Amino acid sequence: MNQTHRGRSTRDGIRIHETADFAGMHAAGRLAAQILDDIAEHVFVGQTTGAIDQLIEDKITAAGAKSATIGYKGYRHASCISVNHVVCHGIPGAPIPKSGGETISRDLEKRRADDVLKDGDILNIDVTVIVDGWFGDTSRMYVAGRPSRKAERLIEVTHDALMKGIEAVRPGATFGDIGHAIQAYVEAHRMSVVRDFCGHGLGRVFHAPPNVLHYGRAGAGPVLEEGMFFTIEPMVNLGRAATEVLDDEWTAVTRDKSLSAQFEHSIGVTAQGAEIFTLSPSGRFRPSFG
Ligand code: MF3
Ligand code: CO
Ligand code: CO
Repeated sequence: MNQTHRGRSTRDGIRIHETADFAGMHAAGRLAAQILDDIAEHVFVGQTTGAIDQLIEDKITAAGAKSATIGYKGYRHASCISVNHVVCHGIPGAPIPKSGGETISRDLEKRRADDVLKDGDILNIDVTVIVDGWFGDTSRMYVAGRPSRKAERLIEVTHDALMKGIEAVRPGATFGDIGHAIQAYVEAHRMSVVRDFCGHGLGRVFHAPPNVLHYGRAGAGPVLEEGMFFTIEPMVNLGRAATEVLDDEWTAVTRDKSLSAQFEHSIGVTAQGAEIFTLSPSGRFRPSFG
């Protein structure tokens, strides 16, 4: 019988990768993180989310890689850009035309106005690339102008919650341990963890088992094993956890219109703990304010 690939899956359908596969994930993760580094200077008051998305698409192409999101379930953009009370899957708008002259419809005009970043906006930019068949998926927060102190705190707590989750990763720990670490940290800061979206296994596929919940009980869920690859991507709200998806069937927002933040890393389980595939090459992942 032909064996098409080596390696195995657990009884929960979670793939156990080979040591050599870490290099593929590392290359894909590094490109995604590099793009998030490079895009930082393009986030400013007056910029449009559509223009940012176009820059991201161009950077992916220039690197000889592919966007995982263009064409994914009908999605047409190289990134998701989620501003303020958008929780995730925000759709970037159309870029501002280089020269005027053409007639644009009232609708499009309004849409473009909506896509312009305003002073104090906070936004998540989420990019997934495919390099040599491996998927690198990461997102982080940016600000336009000067955010409120509350918004800054939300961003810091969300970042640190992701890192608490990653610290819980080691062979023998469980997925419940990850969710519990995140939830405990977020709720200690009187913020709420979104339940309606989760992290996911990935590797040579975009979304694979398991669902990586950002809340839960210590000791619950599948046991982590060396060679598992997955994302951790907590979404944290200043208000209540409830979300709803808009008529475009993508944009998820907080029901109470409170601000929401998210950070995402793609990681692999090693003998010692976790390898973060999407570390920022220039150490820019963690936001600094002031
Ligand atoms: N990158 C997202 C994630 O973290 C998925 C985006 S799918 C899209 O899983 F189609 F909305 F782009
Ligand atoms: Co993801
Ligand atoms: Co993502």
